[in-house]
Amino acid sequence: MTRTILVTAALPYANGPIHIGHLVEYIQTDIWVRFQKMRANDCIYCCADDTHGTPIMIRARQEGIDPERLIARMHAEHTRDFADFDVAFDNYYSTHSPENRRLSETIFSRLREAGHIAEREVEQAYCARDAMFLPDRFIRGACPKCGAPDQYGDSCEVCHATYTPVELADARCSVCGTPPERRRSLHYFFRLADFTEPLQEWIAGGHVHEQVQNKLQEWFAQGLRDWDISRDAPYFGFLIPGETDKYFYVWLDAPIGYMASTMDYCRRTGRDFEAYWCDPATEIVHFLGKDITYFHALFWPAMLMGSGFNAPRRLVIHGFLTVNGEKMSKSRGTFVSAATYLRHLDPQYLRYYYACKLGPGTEDIDLNLDDFVSRIDSDLVGKLANLASRSVPMLNKNLEGRCGALSEEARRMLAPLQEAAETIAADYESCNYAAAVRRICHLADEVNRYVDQRKPWLAIRQDREHARETLTATLNAVRILTVYLKPVLPGFAAKIETMLGLEPLQWSHAGSVWEHGRIGGFERLLERVDPEKVNAMIEESKMEQPQDRKETSQPSPLEAEPLAPEISFDEFMKVDLRLARVVRAETVDGADKLLRLELDLGGPKRTVLAGIRQAYDPPERLVGRLLVVAANLAPRKMKFGVSEGMILAAGPGGSEVFCLTADAGSQAGQRVH
Ligand code: 2FM
Ligand code: ZN
Repeated sequence: MTRTILVTAALPYANGPIHIGHLVEYIQTDIWVRFQKMRANDCIYCCADDTHGTPIMIRARQEGIDPERLIARMHAEHTRDFADFDVAFDNYYSTHSPENRRLSETIFSRLREAGHIAEREVEQAYCARDAMFLPDRFIRGACPKCGAPDQYGDSCEVCHATYTPVELADARCSVCGTPPERRRSLHYFFRLADFTEPLQEWIAGGHVHEQVQNKLQEWFAQGLRDWDISRDAPYFGFLIPGETDKYFYVWLDAPIGYMASTMDYCRRTGRDFEAYWCDPATEIVHFLGKDITYFHALFWPAMLMGSGFNAPRRLVIHGFLTVNGEKMSKSRGTFVSAATYLRHLDPQYLRYYYACKLGPGTEDIDLNLDDFVSRIDSDLVGKLANLASRSVPMLNKNLEGRCGALSEEARRMLAPLQEAAETIAADYESCNYAAAVRRICHLADEVNRYVDQRKPWLAIRQDREHARETLTATLNAVRILTVYLKPVLPGFAAKIETMLGLEPLQWSHAGSVWEHGRIGGFERLLERVDPEKVNAMIEESKMEQPQDRKETSQPSPLEAEPLAPEISFDEFMKVDLRLARVVRAETVDGADKLLRLELDLGGPKRTVLAGIRQAYDPPERLVGRLLVVAANLAPRKMKFGVSEGMILAAGPGGSEVFCLTADAGSQAGQRVH
């Protein structure tokens, strides 16, 4: 029976580019949708940009443009990146759309009428200078536990403590540097606890993986709390009906964006929106990362239940991407954007590698770059592509490009391939792509063994028909393996289809054989990975300006921080500024922001620790350069060693810090005037 399936992937936030971490999910989802389509199910893939909230409002302000312009630019970039990775949405929309506004209002009103919305005053941090309430991530100060400076309002990146912004020492607005005040305002809350029972029933219904069920039980045990779904102006989002300065919190309208995208799809194609969101026979399947489980497994089904829509049939929750076993990092060059990846490597490699690593659970997946190179080379190129690239040219060159009939022996060789169809289908269905790829590779091993035994390259000289028989069997195997690989490698499959003159392959084609086919010309399928290109991609990523969510909270270069208290001329003259030549520059283990510099000031060498690592990567770039140093500063003991002086630098922070340097004719140790 044909299933009707609506699939979504989490909506990417519209304030930064798509990177290889995002791609795990969009590729995972795309593979599943392609598989369903090949099984002749009525399956669509809807997604959109998530466009509202403070980070987008602030970033647009910092760029001096309207948020609408920023999100339009991001939409174009995201759409292009996804297409380049063969992620084929049936609809890619925006949460800043009239459909999403209407749906958000409808859901809110229905929840309110049913008594699921509460109103009460909340006290929050407020920046008087920016005239806005500050989300936790827009407050910075010293960690109350370990004292690390410049930490976010909700958690410390150094000691990992979590706290509230009120506990931060020396808290400041991260936009303008002003210490925040406390202010009260009226907020709307969604009474999640009203849905405790239906949610528990829904979770018991097997809609989420058991690893996630356990986590959800912990949350139930803690009790479900009301959820604040409103934000005060200024805010980029939808006004709450009846209000003039209160908006829906971005996380309320973001998942509703799944519905808005479906609605836009239905308008374009003449399909029925209600068939997707109101008919319980339709399967709604959400793919998402484990960090946003709470939103999708509790808030979202409760919102749908409370407003008369279908709850999701299934949540597929994946882990995070690590690279070489570590968190993606800009300084290591592993924070690779989709665009940078594409400048160096074939997108099919990443699709294949992620498929090799993705299982049905929430474990993190590791992109090990050496393993990446060897798996592509040995399995994808060496085993799978190789079968076609050794057979097609041979058949074309010597046997008029014509396949023959299949012998009994050939049919026996093909039988296990055909019999694997349902097992591999079950692997895809359960999102165990790693198992699917493993099985496909084992089958390809068997076929390669068959070719090696039959040696068609020798047979061709003595017994052309024997060779034709072998090549016909081999290309039948290629055809079946291509069916199985097609969800992962649609580009590769399309080339095989053209080369063998086949109609677009569906899953059911694995059950049939193909005889007396006439093949077309050979086209190279895939190149081996050039490790130099992997290195070049990493090096380029080190140089890029990071644009993830956190970066938007950096002070704008246009907004001056408040000045420190005035000092006298005499006080300033006490600082002995000298030129110093950098003798050595190296990173400091465990400190993301620091460089250890060895400086020549004319006398004994000095060691200075400077927080400029993001701007000078690799640090060797500094060697030989002359910098200005405050040379008579008392040595200071820091967590990572003693710093004997301080270098002068300016800039907004992050990768934009510029050391004050002198020209090459100057001498180390010279006084600066
Ligand atoms: O975590 C994120 O990046 C969000 N933009 C995901 C939203 S998913 C859905 F709810 F829209
Ligand atoms: Zn401020």
